[in-house]
Amino acid sequence: MSQQQRSGRPSSDRLSPSRKKAVIDIRNITKTYKMGTFDLKVLKGVTLKIYPGEFLSIMGPSGSGKSTLMNILGALDTPTSGKYLLDGEDVSQLSEDQLARIRNKKIGFVFQSFNLLKRTEAIRQVELPLIYSTNVRNRSRLAKRALESVGLGQRLDHLPSELSGGQQQRVAIARALVTSPSVVLADEPTGNLDSRSGTEVMQIFQRLNEQQGITTVFVTHDPWIARHTQRVIMLRDGKIIADERVKEPLIAGEVERPSDAEELQGIFEETYYGGDESEYT
Ligand SMILES: Nc1ncnc2c1ncn2[C@@H]1O[C@H](COP(=O)(O)OP(=O)(O)O)[C@@H](O)[C@H]1O
Ligand SMILES: [Mg+2]
Repeated sequence: MSQQQRSGRPSSDRLSPSRKKAVIDIRNITKTYKMGTFDLKVLKGVTLKIYPGEFLSIMGPSGSGKSTLMNILGALDTPTSGKYLLDGEDVSQLSEDQLARIRNKKIGFVFQSFNLLKRTEAIRQVELPLIYSTNVRNRSRLAKRALESVGLGQRLDHLPSELSGGQQQRVAIARALVTSPSVVLADEPTGNLDSRSGTEVMQIFQRLNEQQGITTVFVTHDPWIARHTQRVIMLRDGKIIADERVKEPLIAGEVERPSDAEELQGIFEETYYGGDESEYT
């Protein structure tokens, strides 16, 4: 699907996923790592549908299988059993070469650590995913447009060292978007940023989702970040234990993140004064 087709879609269409085909449709997938004679079951039957235009977070404690699931969603790895349909195409049992092709065409990745090339200008970084699929002129046109869409139209020739952390992550977002992927997967995309740059990056993701309907999946430890997305999947011990809609997603930049002191105060009040008022009188 092209960027143009996406941006024209009315938002009401995005709000009724039941009528549409899932972008990501995984059915009872498992992942087992062989550790010598011992089998480590990491995913124990995960079923999940993600629809076009959704913006969701995958949360869960360390070791619960988030990265393993993300690697499978991103076609970096295949499940031990179960089915994965990406845009309706079965990608559960593809070879390494076939996976690489699917990945390049359908998935945009954004990492915590940006993963930019040190000595390469922003526009060249963003052109890279197009190298095998697009001619030189179109490459630079598409890369420029992607950088403009993340507010970096004036920074095309800058090296990473000449950009702030937030700007570097925006280059990485442009690189993820330039191929018009079916889904963008972001692993702790604000994890290495100060809170102002983190807000900036959240604003970009929210705007791209809102205006272009870009399907976005975050992996995050941070409940504050997750509250800016529309749906939260909770993973525990290789299983989905909750899948909830966020009632009123926060709008990035509109509400300040509570300070540690305020958060502690909140916890204190909930712990000591929670429950019904009548309990105290
Ligand atoms: N390639 C691998 N080989 C063996 N064990 C692995 C591998 N990758 C992850 N694991 C194990 O799988 C479990 C889940 O890991 P992971 O998916 O990284 O969890 P999370 O991202 O939620 O912290 C952990 O116990 C981890 O040690
Ligand atoms: Mg992880």
